[in-house]
Amino acid sequence: MMSVASTESECNGFGDHDDVFTGKDTELAGEYRDTSSEYRASTPPETGRVGGYSASPLRQKCVKLHNFASGTQSVDALHHNATTCEAPCSDRRCRGSILAPSNRTGSLPRPTTEVLKQATEFIEQYYVHINRANTDAHATRLAEVTACIETTGTYRLTEAELSYGAKLAWRNAPRCIGRIQWSKLQLFDARNVRNTRGMLEAVCKHLLYATNKGNIRSAITVFPPRTDGQHDYRVWNTTLIKYAGYEQEDGTIIGDPASVEFTKICLKLGWRGPGGRFDILPLILQANGEDPEWFDIPEECAMEVKLSHPEFDWFAEFGLRWYAVPAVSNMMLDVGGLEFTACPFNGWYMSTEIGARNLCDTYRYNLMETTATKMGLDTTSNMTLWKDKALVETNLAVLHSFQKAQVTITDHHSASESFITHMRNEQATRGGCPADWVWIVPPMSGSVCPVFHQEMLYYSLKPSYEYQEPAWKTHLWRNRPVDSGQVTSKKTFKEVAEAVRFVARLMIRALSKRFKATILYATETGRSKNYAERIHRMFSTAFNAKLLCMDEYDVANLEHEALLLVVASTFGNGDPPDNGLSFARYIMEKAKEEQRKMDSIVRRNSEIDCESTSEHLSCEKFCDQPVRIAPRKILRMNSVTSMDEPTYMLSNVRYAVFGLGSSAYPNFCAFGHAVDELLETLGAERLLEIGEGDELGGQEIAFKKWAQETFKVACENFCIGSDVNIDNVTASISMPDAAWSAEKYRVIAADYQANPPDLCRTLSRLHGKAVLPCRFKSRTDLLNSLSRRSTILVKLDTQDQEEFAYEPGDHVAIYPANDKDLVDRILRRIAHEKSPDVVVKVDRHEAKITELGTVRTWVPHDRLPHCSIRYALLHLLDITSTPSPMFLKTLSMHARSPLEQKQLSTLGELLEEHSEQRTTDKGSAVYDEWLYSSFPNLAEILEAFPTLRVPASLLLTLLPLLRPRYYSISSSPQMHPGDVHITVAVVQYKSKASGAIHRGVCSTWLDALSADDIVPAFIRKAPSFHMPKDQSAPMVLVGPGTGIAPFRSFWQQRQYDRYQEAIDQSDADKDGRFGDVTLVFGCRHSKLDNIYKEEKMTAKEEGVLTDVWTAYSREVHLPKTYVQDLLRKNSQKVYETVCGGKGHVYVCGDVTMAAGVRVTIETIIAKHGEMSEEKAKKLIERLKDENRYHEDIFGITLRTAEATEKLRELKQRTEKNDKTAAEELASLRMGYFLRRETVIRHRTVSENPETSVNGSNLNNNGRERKLSDPPPYRSRPLHTY
Ligand SMILES: Cc1cc2nc3c(=O)[nH]c(=O)nc-3n(C[C@H](O)[C@H](O)[C@H](O)COP(=O)(O)OP(=O)(O)OC[C@H]3O[C@@H](n4cnc5c(N)ncnc54)[C@H](O)[C@@H]3O)c2cc1C
Ligand SMILES: NC(=O)c1ccc[n+]([C@@H]2O[C@H](COP(=O)([O-])OP(=O)(O)OC[C@H]3O[C@@H](n4cnc5c(N)ncnc54)[C@H](OP(=O)(O)O)[C@@H]3O)[C@@H](O)[C@H]2O)c1
Ligand SMILES: Cc1cc2nc3c(=O)[nH]c(=O)nc-3n(C[C@H](O)[C@H](O)[C@H](O)COP(=O)(O)O)c2cc1C
Repeated sequence: MMSVASTESECNGFGDHDDVFTGKDTELAGEYRDTSSEYRASTPPETGRVGGYSASPLRQKCVKLHNFASGTQSVDALHHNATTCEAPCSDRRCRGSILAPSNRTGSLPRPTTEVLKQATEFIEQYYVHINRANTDAHATRLAEVTACIETTGTYRLTEAELSYGAKLAWRNAPRCIGRIQWSKLQLFDARNVRNTRGMLEAVCKHLLYATNKGNIRSAITVFPPRTDGQHDYRVWNTTLIKYAGYEQEDGTIIGDPASVEFTKICLKLGWRGPGGRFDILPLILQANGEDPEWFDIPEECAMEVKLSHPEFDWFAEFGLRWYAVPAVSNMMLDVGGLEFTACPFNGWYMSTEIGARNLCDTYRYNLMETTATKMGLDTTSNMTLWKDKALVETNLAVLHSFQKAQVTITDHHSASESFITHMRNEQATRGGCPADWVWIVPPMSGSVCPVFHQEMLYYSLKPSYEYQEPAWKTHLWRNRPVDSGQVTSKKTFKEVAEAVRFVARLMIRALSKRFKATILYATETGRSKNYAERIHRMFSTAFNAKLLCMDEYDVANLEHEALLLVVASTFGNGDPPDNGLSFARYIMEKAKEEQRKMDSIVRRNSEIDCESTSEHLSCEKFCDQPVRIAPRKILRMNSVTSMDEPTYMLSNVRYAVFGLGSSAYPNFCAFGHAVDELLETLGAERLLEIGEGDELGGQEIAFKKWAQETFKVACENFCIGSDVNIDNVTASISMPDAAWSAEKYRVIAADYQANPPDLCRTLSRLHGKAVLPCRFKSRTDLLNSLSRRSTILVKLDTQDQEEFAYEPGDHVAIYPANDKDLVDRILRRIAHEKSPDVVVKVDRHEAKITELGTVRTWVPHDRLPHCSIRYALLHLLDITSTPSPMFLKTLSMHARSPLEQKQLSTLGELLEEHSEQRTTDKGSAVYDEWLYSSFPNLAEILEAFPTLRVPASLLLTLLPLLRPRYYSISSSPQMHPGDVHITVAVVQYKSKASGAIHRGVCSTWLDALSADDIVPAFIRKAPSFHMPKDQSAPMVLVGPGTGIAPFRSFWQQRQYDRYQEAIDQSDADKDGRFGDVTLVFGCRHSKLDNIYKEEKMTAKEEGVLTDVWTAYSREVHLPKTYVQDLLRKNSQKVYETVCGGKGHVYVCGDVTMAAGVRVTIETIIAKHGEMSEEKAKKLIERLKDENRYHEDIFGITLRTAEATEKLRELKQRTEKNDKTAAEELASLRMGYFLRRETVIRHRTVSENPETSVNGSNLNNNGRERKLSDPPPYRSRPLHTY
């Protein structure tokens, strides 16, 4: 037999399998001259000590396996890791064709020492797989498992370990031809099930999921493992679905002869079979060692296909049928020393299993002769090959019928080809592939299938699926059934009837809840978290949903997810939020690995097959149809899936992404898109196109639409059907605002009159950050007193708290307080009898289900601490952002005038459940317009609707939290120990519609603090914006306006470093110790806002700054100049710095400016480097990856009004089908609009340089202000503390 004809040679490892596989015999003979050091080469990641078995000792025998069709050879070294359990063959005899091996497991529990040994090996294998071998996590887990086994004799695998173990057991199964799909196995963890009803539920769910309306999916359900051997869980059926075989008195059999013995058991247990040829047998389930119980399988769980032939009409008259899901249910999963005695699993059919074996084997349905006769064949002589002909037609009928019914099936040729591909993959990734040739070669057309010509090596690896004695042979009956056929199982007839009814109802919701859904979010300011919470609520109505922030999520679980929903915003300039960074890096890294793996498979396949000498296999076939590589573009699986599709790391995961962003940014929703694409590259199945929530408009509608659609598609995909109440579901994403009612909350005096709570501790709890107090030290005005704007240098005293350790480039986050006047205006409109200064608490009315029934009680609503309403509005809640439509809708209920009610609810219209599309859109547009024109804050809204009286509880429960603001630190920690300096532009702008002045919360607050006031803060590390480690690396620092902030910390640090080393300028220049530093600054006017002018001059004189280039944008009589113009003007130097080897570019400030600078530098590189702009762009991306191009983005700070107005106009035109606008909007979202920045820039600059508040050219009277006018809103004298 070919599988044992292989030759052995010595080797000392695995070698380069790519080469080995493609090498011809002669080359190999040379290469394989045993001890060659080439074979001590790299060990593939999963092979080093697979399963914890010792790495192959030097000079271990490697087995060469020939493929006679292609003329290639491979070398199997994986068998060194084979378990010591008995292989079917020994030196004296080959038992390769014996069906049931003698090493079936009995029911004795495994000795503890063996459990420990296998557990240790498996845990190691798992940690190798997740790249965490020999880490603290590995050691901790091992210690935990060891302690547990030593005290209890057993332990519990985590769900991820179990899922990995089940997949690996499939990968290790030598007899399975369909293993290319091994990583695509859905685990249903049923280890908490304790009785047969629970088992039934789990099996039904499994079948529903696996069937998937014909689009079959591989799955396994795992019940509790063996304990003492007397409390086993077993599924008595050999396969979950099988046809009964009734033995007649004359010895003939109706139905499937293979089921005769089992059918008798079913009958004995009280099942009444109808007596037909295709009666589906009941499930016989045994829980916890109890006597088994039987259950009919509900019709919807057992899909069947009626068989017909594409040409022979008479074939359908045979009345043949077969079930769609082949689910083996009598084997044991042996993983990590634990024995899972009940673990039904399924893949999908290969046609010969039905057509050749089940229907044509003479001891099964035995249809061959009947078919041949109908075909008119001469059955009297073998020489007519009537058997072969009948066999082919029967198989054809099976394939035809399954395909017609859109039920997944594969033919034996495709299965064989994919198995060869699988062997190659395995050879490359782990040095071998155990395979039982006898089983792998299909039951018909042997030598025309490629597997026939492939030598194979049969050995056992752990984890594995093992044969077990039939349950009825080992079960110790409590109540043995008698032969008379009466019901003797534990159940009475009434119970049986009830059980059947129960099954018929199927309790879909209970079942579906077992499907896991993981919701991950990444957020910077909390919005994505809020959306993710709503998604979580929605999916919890039908799934077992779990909500996690990306940075809390253990990425090792990713490949074991079934449904993954991601809600993520974008920060910086197209970057992930901080808490999405580690997840982003992980999937990026994995995607690269996956891409490499797929590339090598494609390369190997095409090389091998083009070099092949086989006469049987066509080269063209592989070359024309290379293995598909990511990214794939399927949205949903096709109904009939090819087994040839390689499996990817996340093949088993379905996902959908909702990205949050602002279309005012050039890289709109970039992180959401990146996650969406990377998950696809990793092979996950995208359920729905990415949803985009644009902060500038329509975000709520986009979210709701995406959420509802995703929910619908997910339910379809997981076969959660009609039972889900879509009304409840829709309501669930609207909560809590939409379901808010005054009766549900009360605000009462707190039991004790606590002092105001500790602010920093409260903020730490609310925001999940370690917020600590700094003290305000001083403030210095940086702009000329003639300027009507204000930019200040604020110095904070960190009181030497070590948590405030920072490096130049880091940020400080500051929690401001709201404006007292605004708070007073709100307090005047609150419906609350008590003083706003009384300490209060909020309670929620909740229904609790107790043993006495449903009891309604007040439970503490612990969102905020006990504090006064004034305190909450001052320090904890956001009262300046325009409230969301949902909030307005809730507010509308508290207006006494019907007109005001209507106006407010129109603004919140998009929340109307089931509203017509038109109504919804209208509501949204009204809100967006209102938002754009007024940016109204809460006080303004309350005043605009005079009949509104707001319950205090509404504000305390629904207003968003006041979020911290980030500032780039402007000091060096060594130059100013214990201090944090920041450079703050005090924000002020005028509402377009009302003319009201709006002041930025934090900047205004900082501008009014007194010495020693507490400033709650924490440090936010920005490792990607630190100075280069190599001090000789040249730097270009680009930061117009307040973008200069971090660079002050840079030059101070450099000054400190130079002072420290007492190096004077000439020394520095001489030894090139410190690289050139070029500062590119921009401001409006040389006399008014050239901030840190003196400091910069000093730094230049000291040689710390090599060059300072300043662009003036509003200098009278000079052309408007931006930093980009200066970069272009000095392009040669910029090019040399950027591309001269180790140079760094730092850009800080407004996103539009940063994107403009990036485009400018791309153009410079393209010009001086003589390359295309596309190439230059890639080069910058590479520099970013290498941490040599750094961006620190404040957001949209420059020309906020202009940026938003432009977008709004484009959107409106696009809605009116203006194609040009649509194109501009699209390219703008792609980031290209920045090239058109000159349009904005080349406005005339004859205007007064300081006349505009954020570019809107107005003063407090709405007229232009002359330079000589006093600053209109500067309320404090210019001073420095
Ligand atoms: C990483 C990072 C670093 C930063 N570093 C600095 C720094 O060093 N120095 C600095 O000054 N700032 C910096 N910022 C910005 C800073 O965090 C604050 O956003 C800024 O100080 C405004 O906060 P505020 O509370 O005063 O204003 P807010 O109350 O937050 O109001 C600002 C908001 O008002 C709106 N707005 C502003 N102008 C207009 C307009 N014309 N029309 C309509 N709406 C408008 C916008 O929605 C804007 O977001 C940084 C931001 C980030 C993310
Ligand atoms: N209200 C206040 O008291 C006050 C005080 C300071 C800052 N602010 C506001 O805070 C924000 C940031 O202020 P800031 O001091 O950092 O900056 P800024 O002074 O507004 O701008 C700095 C320089 O950058 C220029 N610029 C504008 N758009 C640019 C682009 N796309 N690319 C390159 N350069 C560009 C500006 O030119 P032009 O503006 O001439 O185009 C100016 O010369 C601004 O919105 C500003 O109005 C307000
Ligand atoms: C400093 C800063 C940078 C941003 N950068 C981007 C960006 O590059 N692309 C984008 O689409 N949105 C960007 N945004 C907008 C945010 O993604 C948007 O405000 C989002 O709603 C925030 O969601 P979160 O609260 O979940 O973080 C940025 C916002 C800020 C404040």
